[in-house]
Amino acid sequence: MCGIVGVIGKKNATQVLLQGLEKLEYRGYDSAGIYVNDQQGHDYLVKRVGRIKNLENAVTDDVVGSMGIGHTRWATNGMPSEANSHPHLSNDERFYLVHNGVITNANALRDQYLQGIELASETDTEIVVQLVALFAREGLDAKAAFAKTLKMLDGSYAFSLVDRLTPDTLYVAKNKSPLLIGKGDGFNAVASDAMALISETDQFVALQDEELVILTKDNIAIETLAGEPVSRDAFTVKLDDGEISKGTYPFFMLKEIDEQPIVMHRLVDAYTDDEGQVSIDSDLLAAMKRADRLYIVAAGTSYHAGLVGQALFEKLAKVPAEAYLASEFGYHQPLLSERPFFIFLTQSGETADIRQVLVKIKAQGFPSLTVTNVGSSTLAREADYQLLLHAGPEIAVASTKAYTAQIAAEALLAKALGEVKAIPEAAQFDVVHQLGLASTAQQALIEQKDLIHQWATDLFATTRNAFYIGRGTDYYVSLEASLKLKEISYVQAEGFAAGELKHGTIALIEKDTPLVAFISDPETAAHTRSNADEIAARGAKVLRIVTQAQAQDEDQIVIPDIDPLLAPLLSIIPAQLLAYYTSFDRGYDVDRPRNLAKSVTVE
Ligand code: F6R
Repeated sequence: MCGIVGVIGKKNATQVLLQGLEKLEYRGYDSAGIYVNDQQGHDYLVKRVGRIKNLENAVTDDVVGSMGIGHTRWATNGMPSEANSHPHLSNDERFYLVHNGVITNANALRDQYLQGIELASETDTEIVVQLVALFAREGLDAKAAFAKTLKMLDGSYAFSLVDRLTPDTLYVAKNKSPLLIGKGDGFNAVASDAMALISETDQFVALQDEELVILTKDNIAIETLAGEPVSRDAFTVKLDDGEISKGTYPFFMLKEIDEQPIVMHRLVDAYTDDEGQVSIDSDLLAAMKRADRLYIVAAGTSYHAGLVGQALFEKLAKVPAEAYLASEFGYHQPLLSERPFFIFLTQSGETADIRQVLVKIKAQGFPSLTVTNVGSSTLAREADYQLLLHAGPEIAVASTKAYTAQIAAEALLAKALGEVKAIPEAAQFDVVHQLGLASTAQQALIEQKDLIHQWATDLFATTRNAFYIGRGTDYYVSLEASLKLKEISYVQAEGFAAGELKHGTIALIEKDTPLVAFISDPETAAHTRSNADEIAARGAKVLRIVTQAQAQDEDQIVIPDIDPLLAPLLSIIPAQLLAYYTSFDRGYDVDRPRNLAKSVTVE
């Protein structure tokens, strides 16, 4: 993953880099570093293991300059250490390089070209910067040496390179990893995400794969690796700097949980017309109407939202729909229907596993839609259609509001598609009313924080494992609820189809094992309830999260009634809060769980 940032032509380059890295910290937080050059013969390299704070503390007042590059790392090759952190420099100390991505043939290139050159780190990035320096020593200028190196690389990269001999220029290149040029007045910049530069500019230029950019303070020269010049206009990114702050909240995750009711309203506003009717791009709906099957491709939490989506599309639009894990689909493409339509669900719009599927299905000529929270993202730009989630920046690594926004967006889309297909179930499904109900009910659940906190303590304070069960969409919520708990509190948690537990896993249930049962679907409520009872009979501590219509006196958390297809919008709220409080009470950094990064840009 990793985040990179670079700037040229700003008097306070150090601050621009550090502030940019803070915004990019969600992309990795194993170690960080900056290189700053004052273009008058002085330069500085500072790196630290750990969070950006450690780097900031290490940057002294004399580290000033008007150009520089910075990096926050999520380790791929080589453990987190100062030696492995970026920027990497060539042995002749001429070139400095930051990199997001993975070069898969780095070792082969090292063996072929760098025999006898001592490497200071275990990273693929250092091999790249040593190659650039080698080709420069052989007589190429910096740009030609960089281009020659890029042509040899397999894998993914977003690079920003400095040649100390020409500190008025930054060299930038991209393949598969995200990268945007920030266009300023008297300065230019580069970053993995527009968020890193939004306090400096709102004008951005997108890069395509295998493009190289020569950046000076006044000029952005883009060319292909073959040397063909490329002309591309800037676009405006609308991002409110205030939305990227956590205000009085202890963690972004809690703020983002609290924002979910508002996001429901924002989605309704975005996708309804003045008469309150659902209104979605008619070309998109026409393309979807032609499809004989929908393939929803996603990862992690977004995949869990996709599972709910498959039920929505099948019920409301009467089209077969199936959710797939992107990391599997990319390498084991199933036998496709005659007229497939692809929906990529991705909060960040940058997930590498998803992008590789998009590239493959585009090559086969199939239509695609990206449903994302980030309009300027790679997947948003590269699919045929895009639908925005309007959730506002999601900063906590554990996804919350993007998950519920994805389900709500799928509901709006399924309703619109069902209507153009004249499906009676779609006509009867008042999605605007249902999402209004969802918003109010989410707020009511959020207000029960104290009760839910108490349950987090009772169930999970000291446990090492936990189980979640449900049937149908409740099962999909179980998967998401267990992911939330494990990723931020490190409790080993599993989500199960309620009927499946007794086919083996029930052997793990012992006295006080925590189990959460989701019960919302009238058709299966009685079965799930008896599965929960079977587990309670074996000594487990059972918490039932049940819709009003199914509730019995024994049930501890009752959620308001809603169409069962949309119950996940509600039942996930207590589950998110259970995970949040478990992590918080154990003293963990809720927003930055170990080993994770927000945007997963490696396959
Ligand atoms: C978990 C989480 C991840 C992401 C996954 C896909 O809380 O956030 O599982 O859902 O990495 O990311 P996006 O949606 O950005 O493609």
